[in-house]
Amino acid sequence: MIKTSMTELFGCKHPIMLAGMNWVTEPKLVAAVCNAGGLGIFATARCTPEETRKNIREIRSLTDKPFGINQILMFGKIAQDTIQVAAEEKVPVINYTLGKPWFIDQVHAYGGKVLGTTATVKHAKKAAELGCDAIVVTGNEAAAHGELPTTLVLLPLVTSSVKIPVIAAGGFGDGRGLAAALALGAAGISMGTRFSLTKESIVHENFKQLCLKASESDTLYSDKFDGMPGRALKTPVTERMVKGGFPAVDALKGAYDVKKFLNLNWMQFLGMSFKMMGAEESHPLWVQARQAAGTMRHTKALYDGDMKEGIFFAGQIIGACSDLPTVQELMDRIIAEAEATIKKEHAMLA
Ligand SMILES: Cc1cc2nc3c(=O)[nH]c(=O)nc-3n(C[C@H](O)[C@H](O)[C@H](O)COP(=O)(O)O)c2cc1C
Repeated sequence: MIKTSMTELFGCKHPIMLAGMNWVTEPKLVAAVCNAGGLGIFATARCTPEETRKNIREIRSLTDKPFGINQILMFGKIAQDTIQVAAEEKVPVINYTLGKPWFIDQVHAYGGKVLGTTATVKHAKKAAELGCDAIVVTGNEAAAHGELPTTLVLLPLVTSSVKIPVIAAGGFGDGRGLAAALALGAAGISMGTRFSLTKESIVHENFKQLCLKASESDTLYSDKFDGMPGRALKTPVTERMVKGGFPAVDALKGAYDVKKFLNLNWMQFLGMSFKMMGAEESHPLWVQARQAAGTMRHTKALYDGDMKEGIFFAGQIIGACSDLPTVQELMDRIIAEAEATIKKEHAMLA
């Protein structure tokens, strides 16, 4: 058994976390990770606040172990309402990304813990100063959104800069990785890609199989997928997008999704489209439209297995994923391998 400041802080058996992934970290997968001894995180940004409440209750019906939610803070009012619901439901761990947490005292008041997600030393230090209980640090190898520094460089810099537990993300999938993260000062690891390739994951079989065949070089890092720099599986669609394929067409489709999301009538939609045509690419409407389009393509991959239009966010660790174990099998394997690695390293001292 491996005991760290992460297992102590969150009360989980193993220092392994399921990274928040919208549409992927559904209650069954979250509970499977918790029941196998890890810390399961449910990503809420795809939900209305009331859907979040329903999902939290479903997770509680499937496990009595600690779990968390992950919310993207830049989504304004809906993020505030979601955090409020999570606090009312006394969710043990509130994990946030992309924003400044206003709810730390509120969460601490019911005994919950706040877990920030960062990708630079500066933001990690800030999260510690603000009063977070722990942080996730994500290196460039990771699936989806991230910054340029890689895990091997970023992790020791962060663990030397803050006193709170640090959970390493980006490029982890086995026990040697866990042992390496601990050696670099981390208190545990967080995995997205590896958990998305398990039996319990809802990811469409088409994309699971593509990932199993892929090498460590078969991902692309670009801001063309949804407007923010991120990593996705290399496919004909993502290759075309990176070369400058169809972001404008996508943004228009995205604008239509924004129309639906904001409940605009056709006159308002036309007004919005004219505004977009005269605006810089960095205008919030363009950003929203690109995100909506990226989300549409992502769900097409996850649910429909659509290889023509779908985008699957995947990390470089796909190159080391060659099977689809159950969550329990994966967790047991990682812990056994990490223990063996630590023992072997320790023996070198003699
Ligand atoms: C299929 C998939 C979907 C993801 N979706 C999200 C998301 O909705 N929000 C988010 O903040 N991160 C998302 N991520 C990123 C993970 O939270 C995590 O940062 C990343 O997977 C860690 O690196 P790894 O993939 O090397 O394990 C996603 C990752 C994957 C594999």
